[in-house]
Amino acid sequence: MRGQKTGGPGPTAHNLAIFASGSGSNAEKIMAHFANHPHIRVGIVVSNNGAAGVLLHAQRYGIPTLIIDKNRFLTGDAYVPHLQEAGITAVVLAGFLLKVPLTLIDVFGGKVVNIHPALLPKHGGKGMYGKHVHEAVLAQGDASSGITIHLVDGQYDHGPQLFSATCAVLPTDDAGTLAQRVLELEHRHYAPTIERWLTTP
Ligand code: GRF
Repeated sequence: MRGQKTGGPGPTAHNLAIFASGSGSNAEKIMAHFANHPHIRVGIVVSNNGAAGVLLHAQRYGIPTLIIDKNRFLTGDAYVPHLQEAGITAVVLAGFLLKVPLTLIDVFGGKVVNIHPALLPKHGGKGMYGKHVHEAVLAQGDASSGITIHLVDGQYDHGPQLFSATCAVLPTDDAGTLAQRVLELEHRHYAPTIERWLTTP
């Protein structure tokens, strides 16, 4: 969008909407990463949950928030006019539990990215979120797990992959310890991957 400035010298080329439903620890890393970036900023944080921790992170960073109604989001205009008015150019899903409508993906020219806490295509799809993912990895006896960062194409946990990283699954793991190891990978890699995605010609 034109005319917007961050703390940096140049015009902001990319203005992100972060969509999150929960605590927003990944969202917080992204807000921190781009807080003083010359060309990328977080312009809004969107949640379907008015009690989501991510809203407090947004407040701390001075980022506007939008609470959406599930039905209007899924069957209405997906809040596209609001996002356009905010000058949003790309959407980052960070623990957002609703399926993103195709209208939203189309409006942003496919610039919608998601992170999944497992190695897709394994352990993805409807219902595969939070501890369910890690329980599935353990139940299958996988030797490794990890993260997948991918573009969103209208199906759950599906679309071209931008990045993946792996970690070991230990014999002593339960869903909690595995989740923690995977979350560390997410925190390390999501923001830099978004930056590379947006800035690589
Ligand atoms: C992360 O594990 C992410 O992969 C998944 O939802 C979780 C969100 O965690 N899509 P947080 O709210 O960022 O802490």
